[in-house]
This record gives sequence, structure tokens and C-alpha cells, in this order.
Amino acid sequence: MAQNISPSRHPAHQPVVITLDGPAGSGKSAVAHQLARYLGFQHLDTGAMYRAVTLDAIERGITQNPQAMASRVGELNLDFDWNRQPAHILLNGRDVSEAIRTPEVTRLTYVSADNTAVRTVLVDCQRRIAEKTGRIVTEGRDQGTIVFPDAICKFYLDADIDVRADRRINELAKKGVLVTKIKMVEELKNRDAQDKSRAIGGLAVASGAIIVDTTLLTPKQVVEELARHAAEKIAEAAGAADAVKP
Ligand code: DC
Repeated sequence: MAQNISPSRHPAHQPVVITLDGPAGSGKSAVAHQLARYLGFQHLDTGAMYRAVTLDAIERGITQNPQAMASRVGELNLDFDWNRQPAHILLNGRDVSEAIRTPEVTRLTYVSADNTAVRTVLVDCQRRIAEKTGRIVTEGRDQGTIVFPDAICKFYLDADIDVRADRRINELAKKGVLVTKIKMVEELKNRDAQDKSRAIGGLAVASGAIIVDTTLLTPKQVVEELARHAAEKIAEAAGAADAVKP
């Protein structure tokens, strides 16, 4: 049952934002979605946006041309269908929520994540979505560090690489894609290195973020822990706002 525990906006008319950052397989997506539902917030999957830009680049044959990608991103219309649970991503009106999950898109997404012009456009788009929706749980790599440094509550999720690999293997197996453990561990290590070394928007723990190790926790336990912290932060912010009212 959704808990509507916050006012629709921050006292200063800022959107109420909760950020979840962390490496691939840390459990962010499932947890962000459930936390958002529990709190009555929207869930923004920013990785889906980088994937959609990559899918478009693959289709146009420009993945190895950063300049072409930089000019193309300004022409793209990225949106979400918020009536779906989780929200479906729309690329120029086309629902690409399945097409962005292929191994090819996953492998090539670094080309949009490493492109400064792409990042600038997507960061701006993410802030506009937060403004529009008012209350958002947003997940990615740079949400607490770059995009929403003033978020009301920030989390950094992590887990042992073995467990992260098992989670990804199980997710892919449900879609009929079989990957060995050795290959998945190697793939995750590569992605971690790419995500952490990115000059702008690289994966890092945001200042003030609560670090949660999900290795031994079920998604339900993680959601409960995050919801407890989020409720405290929201109550603190509401109390602080009341204190300054004339
Ligand atoms: O969360 P994901 O695996 O769907 O993200 C795909 C890639 O997109 C990831 O390897 C790094 C990049 N990304 C990013 O650079 N910044 C974000 N806010 C989200 C994702």
C-alpha cells in the first residue's frame, strides 16, 4: 500500500528528490521502483535514458562518432509513459523499453555515458522531469553527486561482485539469455571500471549519502531500510520548514 508521507513539494517549491546510485547489479532498479511505489513517488530510471540514446546511435550507425551523437541528442525526444509500472521509456514516441535491454546496448552504452554533450542534455532532462513530477525516486550513477546534490535523501547501494553477477545472470535467464558466471563477473568488472573512471558523472558516493550493502539482504529488506531513512529525512525537512514559518 502506497504511503503518501510528504507534501507534494519541498517548502521552497523544490521537487522532493530521493537519489539511488550504485554499480550494476546492486539492486537499484527493483528497489527504486518499490520504494517509489511505497512512498507514492515517481521512479526515474536514468540508465534507461543513456541506453535509449545508445539504441538510437546503433540504429543510425554513429556509435563511433561522438560529434554526430552530440548533435543528434539535441534532436531526440526522450519521454516516459508514467501510466506504466515501471514507467516505459519513449524514444521519439516509440516505446523502446524492451529494445534497450539487449546485450549489445548494454555493452555499448559507455559511448553515450562518456559523451559530455549527451550527459548535459540528459542531466537537464532529468531535472525537468523532477520539476514536472514533483516527487521522485531517481536511480543512476550521478544522481546524488551531480544531478540532485540537494536531494532530500541520498542512497548508495552496493553488493559483492559475486552476488551482483548472480542477480544479473538470473535476470537475463528469465529473458532466455544464458551467461556464464565467469563472463558476467568480467563484464561487471569492466562496467565498474568504466563507470568509476568516467571524467564527468562517474560513479561515486555522494556527499551525505547513506551507504547500504545489499549483499545479504532481500529486495524487501532493502526497501524497508531505505523507506525508514527516507521517512526520517522527509519528517526532518518538514519540521525545519515549520520552524522558519512566520
Ligand atoms: O543502470 P544501467 O545499467 O541501465 O545503466 C546503463 C549505463 O548507463 C551504465 O553503465 C552507466 C550509464 N549511466 C550513467 O552514466 N549515468 C546514469 N545516471 C545512469 C546510467
